[in-house]
Amino acid sequence: MPPMTDPNVLVGIATSDDAGVYKLSDDLALVQTVDFFTPIVDDPYDFGRIAAANSLSDIYAMGAKPLTALNICAFPVDELDHEILAQILLGGAEVARTAGVAILGGHTVKDAEPKYGMAVTGTVHPERVVTNAGARPGDLLLLTKPIGTGILSTALKRGTIAAAFMAPAVEQMIRLNDVASKSMVAHGAHAATDVTGFGLLGHAGEMARASRVALSIDASAVPTYERVLALISEGVVPGGTRDNVREHAAFTTFDANVDEAHRILLSDATTSGGLLISATPENAAHILHDLESLGTACVIGSVTDGPAGTIGVR
Ligand code: CO
Ligand code: CO
Repeated sequence: MPPMTDPNVLVGIATSDDAGVYKLSDDLALVQTVDFFTPIVDDPYDFGRIAAANSLSDIYAMGAKPLTALNICAFPVDELDHEILAQILLGGAEVARTAGVAILGGHTVKDAEPKYGMAVTGTVHPERVVTNAGARPGDLLLLTKPIGTGILSTALKRGTIAAAFMAPAVEQMIRLNDVASKSMVAHGAHAATDVTGFGLLGHAGEMARASRVALSIDASAVPTYERVLALISEGVVPGGTRDNVREHAAFTTFDANVDEAHRILLSDATTSGGLLISATPENAAHILHDLESLGTACVIGSVTDGPAGTIGVR
């Protein structure tokens, strides 16, 4: 893509951030993002809810408030019962309602495999955007949801685990990042992104490059779901995660004591993951306090002045 020269583009494609930000006036900017993917759970209503929460997440990751959304849908209209499509859209509508987001319309195309997601528009004060480019040495890194949903959904597709085993992950994927977003804005977080398809290391790497800092991550502090590490050891790793592992090797160094399963877990192609937040230790403590009731937010590492764009995992 050619670079954007419009001065109103506050966040464009250059920093691989979660959403684009366009300044409308001195106190108002638009935040826009789009995301859609194939089903990762069997239940169409759950799939709709997860896809919607995932789409809204990129707005929350910028510290913005989502206002409106458009459905984006692909569906094998001649082969599958239309009730399935209805359930997907109902799930998306339910999450939008919870988020206070109005769905204004959308578009469906005929396709061999179902796909669903949303294009979401939000607003933010131009000076209060939380980009992925503001992390500073001395900051702590917080993660607000466990990772490993890609491993679990692959295990589910292969019949290695029963659907019930996926329930805690489904619950987290449906959960909005709204509370975490509000808290990080209130407590002056320096940077944030949400953890999705490129995995924790991929999105952390984008933050490290955009912020021109190094990150240090404690593998044992990164939360995951029951069975995930064992499934990785059994070889249940999707292709997308294997691709991530190869790409992340270019900027990541692992201490010798970090085992193979953790190295793969940190590249898990996650869906609707939590926010990765960079904040001073004092502000991080405030954010953790706000998120205490969710029970899943924790410190996973810190920002250092090591070589820009690199990650050390211990
Ligand atoms: Co994102
Ligand atoms: Co996205």
